[in-house]
Amino acid sequence: MNDKRFYITTPIYYPSGKLHIGHAYCTVATDAMARYKRLCGYDVMFLTGTDEHGQKIEDKAREAGVTPQEFVDNIVAAPGGVLDLWKLMNVSYDRFIRTTDDYHVSAIQKIFKQMYDNGDIYKGSYKGKYCKPCESFWTESQLVDGKCPDCGREVMDAEEEAYFFRASKYAGRVRDLLLNTDFLEPKSRVHEMVNNFIDCEGGLQDLCVSRTSFTWGVPVDFDPGHVVYVWLDALFNYMTALGYQNDKYNDLERFWPADAHFVGKEIVRFHAIYWPAFLMSMGLPLPKKLYGHGWLNFNGDKMSKSKGNVVDPHLLSQRYGVDALRFFLLRSFPFGSDGNFSNELLIQTINVDLANDLGNLVSRTTAMVEKYFGGTLPEARQGAALDDELIGLAAGLRGRYEAQMEKFQFQNALEEIFKVIQRANKYIDENAPWALAKDMEANGPRLAAVLYNLLEAVRVCAVLLTPFMPGSCEKIFGQIGAGESARTWDSAANWGELPANVSVSKGENLFPRIDMNKELAELEAIQEEARRAALPALEIEPLAEEKVDFDTFCKSDFRAVKVKACENVKKSDKLLKFTLDDGTGADRQILSGIAKWYRPEELVGKTLVAIVNLPPRRMMGQESQGMLISAVHTERGEERLNLLMVDDAIPAGAKLC
Ligand code: ME8
Repeated sequence: MNDKRFYITTPIYYPSGKLHIGHAYCTVATDAMARYKRLCGYDVMFLTGTDEHGQKIEDKAREAGVTPQEFVDNIVAAPGGVLDLWKLMNVSYDRFIRTTDDYHVSAIQKIFKQMYDNGDIYKGSYKGKYCKPCESFWTESQLVDGKCPDCGREVMDAEEEAYFFRASKYAGRVRDLLLNTDFLEPKSRVHEMVNNFIDCEGGLQDLCVSRTSFTWGVPVDFDPGHVVYVWLDALFNYMTALGYQNDKYNDLERFWPADAHFVGKEIVRFHAIYWPAFLMSMGLPLPKKLYGHGWLNFNGDKMSKSKGNVVDPHLLSQRYGVDALRFFLLRSFPFGSDGNFSNELLIQTINVDLANDLGNLVSRTTAMVEKYFGGTLPEARQGAALDDELIGLAAGLRGRYEAQMEKFQFQNALEEIFKVIQRANKYIDENAPWALAKDMEANGPRLAAVLYNLLEAVRVCAVLLTPFMPGSCEKIFGQIGAGESARTWDSAANWGELPANVSVSKGENLFPRIDMNKELAELEAIQEEARRAALPALEIEPLAEEKVDFDTFCKSDFRAVKVKACENVKKSDKLLKFTLDDGTGADRQILSGIAKWYRPEELVGKTLVAIVNLPPRRMMGQESQGMLISAVHTERGEERLNLLMVDDAIPAGAKLC
């Protein structure tokens, strides 16, 4: 039995909408780590899943007109959903937990009861703001301008009966864990946690762990009407998925405590403070490491659905290949800090690192072995001093890579690999194999040595790149003829593992170069379309609250008017000038800012509605004697306007009342 074990987790995602590239970032990092550990010979458990309870999901389901369970099933398990995305992205999770799974739900009930019995959960009251029409509780910070975030109406002070977890009791131990151990990384996050939540005024507060204002949650079985707070429910997934308080699995002994929880920076607080406190309350061992990674922004802005700037990993992996996307995410951003996603950076990274550096190295090397030696190198080779640098660099690569991977510094680990790839490309230029090939009799052995060294450099790099780009490395191994024994972790530290007489073949171009400008234009068009599709289909202005008295309203004189002529106003891209028949026999001129929506010629002859007793106004040096009436609304974020047109049978000048 393997005693080298490694348990790693991603956060469990809220299935409240489609997952975006930010979610993929964390999952791909976890996957690379899990694959790396497997490569090193560990027995790995990689857990991911979905966090399916809570008010947000309940509300979204109501909006969609389905039950909460149907709603989450549709996002998690339906085609194009979360499970499909991880499959597409080649995520090698060992277990997937859904917090609506029966075994998890009953385990949470037992845990809640046990904490209640040991005195760490007690009943109290939760003070907040209440919106009576919506029957919703809100915290001060959830209010928008002091009003209900749902309906915009006034809220009142209210109290809700609730259970609390005695977090305050564990403040000292959690503080010690954060300050005096390596539990939380990067270190920069430690002081933020301690200062803001433990050493703050009033110290660490007890945490409200039940709700009665909605029902979509794990019911507190000994007190109907209460559901367990989502974070208590969600955090224990890391243990219930191993079999804690249930019979579904039996892996606790093998894998708990976890070796690493990867989480985004905004949820470090729950994992660094409450999670250890819950475990302390239950007398359980603490996870060994919590790593709070940074956020991916989009063009400098926070990705958010309401801004319509979320990046779709389905789209990108379909366009560039899963491996290119996986690689880009971990190569371009230091894991602990925020990163700025842009289409340009993505394409540039693919072109520079994958097409130019790695792709070229592999295709040039394999093509030359084919061309000069028919795909198989001779056994006899001739080394030279010129080889030492490349061989030395490649031979020490595994150690440098390992040091970075163990610290979750994926970007640095990849940087080490690319130093070797770049050195190998330079080695091709230094040795000019095409020149050696001119005299095969004299230079054949040297040429074979050069090409063998290149194959070896490719092989060592491909072994270490496997956790990042498993599919592409498999293809590289095929092209350079590396069998199983030349793909192992051990083999990556040994120069010369590739037998000389393997069959090498050029095969397909792994990373085709992308035409940056063409691609950027296409991507922007697709993303703009998606942004617009995310906007509300129809928005209309709320009805006016201020009342107008009947007599005032009756003073407005609306008339049917016929368009005799219509033209653009010079130097204005907004205004149209109308010459109208208003039934009086004299022409009436009205200027209207509708040029964006109508061409002048299409309006001639139409019967419109105008208010004719407004005082005349001058615009762009011309007089406007009234105003044309139109209907306005917003469609997918774009303002729409339609002139009010009436039946042509209505005579010019007819009064509308
Ligand atoms: O927080 N860049 O779920 P979630 C990087 N259910 N990471 C991002 C990101 C971005 N732009 N946007 C989101 C939850 N994430 C809880 C977790 S765990 C017991 C419960 C990351 O779906 C975010 O930081 O809102 C978090 O780690 C993860 O996606 C899940 O977010």
